[in-house]
Amino acid sequence: MSISVSLELTKNCNFRCRHCAINAGPGGKIMSITNVKEVLNHLPGNLEYLLLSGGEIFTIKDRLWQTLEYIRDHRQRLFPKVKISVNTNGFWIKDAPSDVETFRRLHEYGVNNIGFSGMDAFHKEQGLNLEMVKRGALNARAILERDLGGNETFTFMFYGCRPGIANPLGRAASLPANLLRPESKCSLPLDSAITVGSDGEAYLCCWQGSPSIGSVITTPLDELVNRASVDPVIGALMREGLLAAAIALGVYDPGKAGEYTTRACIICKGLFAGYSGLRLVSNSFR
Ligand SMILES: C[S@@+](CC[C@H](N)C(=O)[O-])C[C@H]1O[C@@H](n2cnc3c(N)ncnc32)[C@H](O)[C@@H]1O
Ligand code: SF4
Repeated sequence: MSISVSLELTKNCNFRCRHCAINAGPGGKIMSITNVKEVLNHLPGNLEYLLLSGGEIFTIKDRLWQTLEYIRDHRQRLFPKVKISVNTNGFWIKDAPSDVETFRRLHEYGVNNIGFSGMDAFHKEQGLNLEMVKRGALNARAILERDLGGNETFTFMFYGCRPGIANPLGRAASLPANLLRPESKCSLPLDSAITVGSDGEAYLCCWQGSPSIGSVITTPLDELVNRASVDPVIGALMREGLLAAAIALGVYDPGKAGEYTTRACIICKGLFAGYSGLRLVSNSFR
């Protein structure tokens, strides 16, 4: 059962990176707090890792604080073992006292890790000052830890999407080939990771490329996964990956055998188009 969930709180973003696989940008959809709470209530009790992501969650700070407040107040009851991460491009880091205050609040809400995931040339060309993000974050954490008497606050991860390794989804589908991952291998099956989109739909694929397995707003995630596992096509995808799903769908083409493992990000859209086995829902490909 899924022990790792990535929850996309919004598709809103201050940037419009040309490699963005999820088509985030200004004016993007924001999950309502009612739906956020329903999703959290429907996550499994043995959840080990919850990532709050977007879009850019620091463009919707009020919703982020509401979400973290609910998690803090219900963590023990809902998922006592969980570690909480947030993902951000870091546009709000100014190497100033305001950073320390934001970190203080994240720490008080029980965030364990911050991923500064915009440390790449695509974000730089949108105007992100990568050096400032890194310097400001390290300085602010040091000040907070000094204020807290040397106690460790959270871990950081600094990373990004190097040109040459973008997956060809969303806006990245229009990138020149030299900026794309030459072999964009599908990472499924991932038996323990689920992505929940800002519409509440759950996906096996971290880029929401495979069909939704249902809404976590209305149904416990355990139940959705159990249902999906008995679906012939999605079950094959869960257990063995894309090639097995293609065989189960009856569209396996031996002449393109290699593509199911090396160019999967490109072909999965076509593969599942029109599939309406499971509750299937919207094949809401982006
Ligand atoms: C969707 S963003 C959300 C968090 C934040 N807005 C940011 O950009 O850091 C999370 C990560 O996905 C990466 N990403 C976006 N589109 C991608 C693509 N087509 N291929 C690979 N990584 C991608 C971003 O570079 C970032 O590291
Ligand atoms: S990659 Fe991140 S910062 Fe760039 S548009 Fe997408 S969500 Fe926004």
